[in-house]
Amino acid sequence: MPNSTHHTSLDQLNAVNSHDFVTIYSPKTTADVATLINILQYNRDYFIEQIALRGVLLFRGFSPSNPTEFHDIITQGLGLEPWNAFNTQNMPAMVGSWMRKYTENLLGAGDYRRYLEKNTVQLGPVESSVQGPHTEGGIRSERSRYIALCCFEPAPHLAETGMVDLHQVYKELPETTRQKYHKAWNRFYYITGRKVHVLDKMLLAKSPFTVITRKDGFAHLALPPCPMVCSVPETGDLCLQPWAFAKNTNDTAHASAVANFTGRGEILKDSTADGMNLTWELCDDKGQSIAWSASEQREMFDRIFERAFLMAWQKGDIALVDNIRIGHWRMNGEQGNRKLVQIQANAFNADLYQAQIPPNLPLQREASF
Ligand SMILES: [Fe+2]
Repeated sequence: MPNSTHHTSLDQLNAVNSHDFVTIYSPKTTADVATLINILQYNRDYFIEQIALRGVLLFRGFSPSNPTEFHDIITQGLGLEPWNAFNTQNMPAMVGSWMRKYTENLLGAGDYRRYLEKNTVQLGPVESSVQGPHTEGGIRSERSRYIALCCFEPAPHLAETGMVDLHQVYKELPETTRQKYHKAWNRFYYITGRKVHVLDKMLLAKSPFTVITRKDGFAHLALPPCPMVCSVPETGDLCLQPWAFAKNTNDTAHASAVANFTGRGEILKDSTADGMNLTWELCDDKGQSIAWSASEQREMFDRIFERAFLMAWQKGDIALVDNIRIGHWRMNGEQGNRKLVQIQANAFNADLYQAQIPPNLPLQREASF
């Protein structure tokens, strides 16, 4: 534990390992945002090390009163740099929201999240469905290393965030499946929800999509492959990297959710995945498709959902999540006034940590609070 003065000492926090990969930090006495920022500032290295070792750090009892205070905790406290997979050009909030709406219109659906500030996003509404498990921005190799979430208002009923240790999931797959995924790349392509126009082509020219216009005027929007398995930089732990918003995996993900999450009302199919014509397939390093059966997909979703930790948010909670090691998804429930705000932070390139690339291992596992 680092040495520090009274006002910035880690001794001011209670720390409880409440789950295999979750540590909850709560104040012993002073429970305000300024105190938390001070503690984080003076112990940054410690917390960044802990996030790699634990997976999820939850700060409970500090209750930021608005998104700006939440942003300050993440940037001034932890020193993280916001990096939004959907706003890499760093556009103002209004332009970011417009681009997102435009993309949703072109692709036929979306999850209706909205920008509150340049890099601060209010997550979409709760539905009677369970989202497919994913790492944030996991449709592309360029994604954020961390996600920070702040609960300004919890849902009246359920609507937890499902979380899973993707290293644990990978370890528990059969050897033959591990061998297969170890070398595999995720490849995603959309088919647009309407015909593409000249303006679309101009806007898409600046996007990561390769656009293939069909004779009927609709287009295929293909993304470069990204690793199916990649390692956590500090530990070398290999983690599955799902992004289950595709139409072709939605039936299997839904069936697995219904089988695994019982006693919480009817679970419908995820409407975002159902509304977009997105395909998720596997390919090798030469771009050749790899067969991927519905039963293999089911096995993956079952392993993920069986291992789920459901984060029941309390007002004022701030969670820092390792976006490579921990997969997440929104559970079904009641929206009410639920307000969950997200900041994606620190650019990460999954290509550099693909499973077959030897990792660096600077961290020891025996660190403790
Ligand atoms: Fe997400």
